[in-house]
Amino acid sequence: MKYNYKGMDILIEADYDNASKKAAWIVASQITLNPRSVLGLATGSTPEGMYDYLVKMYQKGDIDFSEVVTFNLDEYYNLGVDHYQSYHYYMNEHLFDFININKDNVYIPNGTADDVEEYCLSYDKAIKDYGNIDLQILGIGNNGHIGFNEPDVYFELGTHLVELDEDTIKANSRFFNRYEDVPKRALSMGIRNIMHSKKIVLLAMGENKSKIVREMIMGKVTSKVPASILQLHANVTVILDQLAAEDIIDELK
Ligand code: PGA
Repeated sequence: MKYNYKGMDILIEADYDNASKKAAWIVASQITLNPRSVLGLATGSTPEGMYDYLVKMYQKGDIDFSEVVTFNLDEYYNLGVDHYQSYHYYMNEHLFDFININKDNVYIPNGTADDVEEYCLSYDKAIKDYGNIDLQILGIGNNGHIGFNEPDVYFELGTHLVELDEDTIKANSRFFNRYEDVPKRALSMGIRNIMHSKKIVLLAMGENKSKIVREMIMGKVTSKVPASILQLHANVTVILDQLAAEDIIDELK
């Protein structure tokens, strides 16, 4: 089902698989219309299904990534690119190793940069030099973060070093063998980088996201729920499975 709420398109799909397929179609159509598209990419459990579909579409000859440019949202601080939990590793495992992307066109924040401040500015500049992101894919944290823009008293605008919330560290710990190994800091694109994207697709799945999805869409815009800023973007599509839509569905109808 498709709804529109405060200018945002809300697509509610039957389940994770259908929602992932829908997201992959949107990405595929973006690339087909503009083979040189600049994509903003997310990690986490949520987009795994979408990446699986994109790989399948590539294998069938339906998409050509050879001229596509990608910028990832974030990376753990001080985790080497070869670490099995780095987002560099994740992207190779879920997408880049299986498609014909030119790795020179792949940008992922470098969590081991010597001069972090300077590095963050160079990441912002690289995005700007490409004319900003055409299509940004987002997940959402249980605390309302997008990328690793954590709830705060103000919105961080550019790429920056983040002290991760306890909530986020706990959520991320499911991927690590030992809790003490979970990084406490990360580099993340800022809210301006995200809001300057021409089109945004946010994915949220499962009942544990239903409460924060409601706050994002129906709550007030506040840096305490960073995803709520998306209410002010002119071209946002939120793709949910039925479980994640549970707390908003009655009001949408
Ligand atoms: P998840 O993470 O996809 O693993 O739920 C989403 C996020 O924290 O942005």
